[in-house]
Amino acid sequence: MKKAVFCVVMLAAALTAGAQKISSPNGKLNLIFSIDKGGCPTYTLTYGDKTVVAPSHLGYQLKMDDPNKKTDFEWNTPVAASDEIVRKADLMTGFATTSVETSSFDETWSPVWGEESSIRNHYNELLVHLNQAKNDRSMDIRFRLFDDGLGFRYEFPDQKNLTYFTIKEEKSEFAMTGNHTAWWIAGDYDTQEYEWQTTRLSEIRENMKNAIAPNSSQTPAGPTTVQTSLQMKTDDGLYINLHEAACINYATMHLTYDETNNSFVSHLTPDAAGDKGHIQTPSTSPWRTVIVGEQATDILASRITLNLNEPCKLEDTSWIHPTKYVGVWWEMITGAGTWSYTDDLNSVQLGVTDYTKTKPNGKHGANTKHVKDYIDFAAENGFDAVLVEGWNEGWEDWFGHQKDYVFDFVTPYPDFDVKEISEYAKSKGVKMIMHHETSSSTTNYERHLEDAYDFMNKWGYTSVKSGYVGDIVPYGEHHYSQPLNNHYLYCIKKAADHKIMVNAHEATRPTGICRTYPNWIGNESARGTEYESFGGNPVNHTTILPFTRSIGGPMDYTPGIFVMDLGTWAEGNTSKVRSTLARQLALYVTLYSPLQMAADIIEHYQEKMDAFQFIKDVPCDWDKSLYLEAEPGQYIVTARKAKGADEWFIGCTAAECGHTSNINLDFLTPGKTYTATIYADAKGTAWDNNPEGYVITTKKVTSKSTLKKLVAGAGGGFAISIK
Ligand code: NOJ
Ligand code: CA
Repeated sequence: MKKAVFCVVMLAAALTAGAQKISSPNGKLNLIFSIDKGGCPTYTLTYGDKTVVAPSHLGYQLKMDDPNKKTDFEWNTPVAASDEIVRKADLMTGFATTSVETSSFDETWSPVWGEESSIRNHYNELLVHLNQAKNDRSMDIRFRLFDDGLGFRYEFPDQKNLTYFTIKEEKSEFAMTGNHTAWWIAGDYDTQEYEWQTTRLSEIRENMKNAIAPNSSQTPAGPTTVQTSLQMKTDDGLYINLHEAACINYATMHLTYDETNNSFVSHLTPDAAGDKGHIQTPSTSPWRTVIVGEQATDILASRITLNLNEPCKLEDTSWIHPTKYVGVWWEMITGAGTWSYTDDLNSVQLGVTDYTKTKPNGKHGANTKHVKDYIDFAAENGFDAVLVEGWNEGWEDWFGHQKDYVFDFVTPYPDFDVKEISEYAKSKGVKMIMHHETSSSTTNYERHLEDAYDFMNKWGYTSVKSGYVGDIVPYGEHHYSQPLNNHYLYCIKKAADHKIMVNAHEATRPTGICRTYPNWIGNESARGTEYESFGGNPVNHTTILPFTRSIGGPMDYTPGIFVMDLGTWAEGNTSKVRSTLARQLALYVTLYSPLQMAADIIEHYQEKMDAFQFIKDVPCDWDKSLYLEAEPGQYIVTARKAKGADEWFIGCTAAECGHTSNINLDFLTPGKTYTATIYADAKGTAWDNNPEGYVITTKKVTSKSTLKKLVAGAGGGFAISIK
């Protein structure tokens, strides 16, 4: 009761002084915009009678050069006083609303690939034109209110007094109303390959130390700074998700938790000079998003991130295809094979060494014979493509030295016959996936990019997995800074010119730009399956990713591991995959991606072809997705309809407590009989007990059937195909 009264008072306060209000199309979400006493733009977001974001400030601190340190043409004459600097650096206070515009938008569009074949983009909009008299500058803020959340961004019109500026910090605030439960990873300028933490907001600081596990490229941003997408749950059961959309020509945003005010404030990634953005007007910031749901499944169903991005800018998209692939990869990650050709490390240097004169180590994965086996396997089992890593010279010394010249992306090792492999793949109807490990030297990569893409075109490679392991060269740049975000998009656009699809690992986390450039078919940008070989992902990991990492776009998670005890075949590897085999199948459904790898080595699939049948059957492009049950950190059950076929696939991933489902199949076409094949954990199977135990059963089902008592063990799951 008290809470309700508080809300009314707060709204009344916010509605004074010319406040503006808009509602979402269904009326449940309400946004109030006002200018506070100091002239600071302020917004409040409510859902029914609940406050989602309490009154929160918006604006920027700009970086101004101190003119006292500068000189004009008549050497050594100061050009301005420092109070002027203070005034000019302020893009936060002293604003007045000059006019407002409201509008509505309702459109249904079809993505080139996706979780559904048509997406509704329906919102009410408020555009506020602001003037800052003390600096004679203008700034607009555009709010879009959807039924499932809010997006807002800053817009900087072309103007005399704000043409070029440097951001010291964006000051977008998200004031919370309670000590919510949050699923977060440590704020970092260079990596999101961290374990998800589940804590109360008040516990972020004390858990930050545990949250930062050693990793190759790492620059923690602060003791209470976390990354987005940040998932939260209030004590009265509301789910709130903070992220961003369309991060273009701008730094990636983290959120710093301010314990005194129980609010988050934006924290942009600095560039090598410590600046957080160089802007030239007219321009717009990325969208800041607040997704709101009464149920956890509402968050998974939200399309806000895509809807806030621009429509597709590529005229011809006929060459963009969702892709299921196998690859020469897991054997290197587990240590059973190598990327490098020789162990004779001291004598090797790219561009200098004649590799044919070095001693091969006998464990080089990317050799022609082995690659052809993978092409055969792909062709026999209906896979679209084969990825091969370690095919190019340079892997003997690629990491850790911040070298400016690492790989040239066009020179194969002597045992990788690119011509023979390409012709063989073509004859089998299989595409090859190129691998470009940039070693984070973006200068080197940009220097070679055109040649590298030409090389791909020449040999018929239609997609590339790129990677950014290690510290960035140019020195001091960060993986998430404005210049790097510009680099990633530059590669995407260049790739589109060459009709190449891109899956970038270790790049910043996505913000839905794949709507605009659908050749951006994937990113890693979180702990993927590779960490199962480096000690293991936490058991709840895959029950959190769809609420966090995947909000911005698909992840190349590379599931499908069938042998959990890696030491049984990769000598010296002591890791055990923290999952059951049935859950590995389920991930093809619960973790959406248009790019799905069957990541294990082919021998392991050949031993269990009955379970492998699910991976052969499951598509990676969908007409419809239904999020049946979910609780972050506990379980997710998702059903998806294959694109253009009356076939459904269901997956369940469960954490330590396991999960039991009864699934009503009323989404099937009425009057039709289907065969459901259920791949479930065997009795007693859990991630740490007989994890490879599975049972396959089949049943005839109709839209009137309910699949009862489907049991996922601890760290387990189930996968179902309905055809
Ligand atoms: C890290 C990537 O995530 C992994 O998939 C890749 O194999 C290695 N870097 C080498 O590029
Ligand atoms: Ca990685």
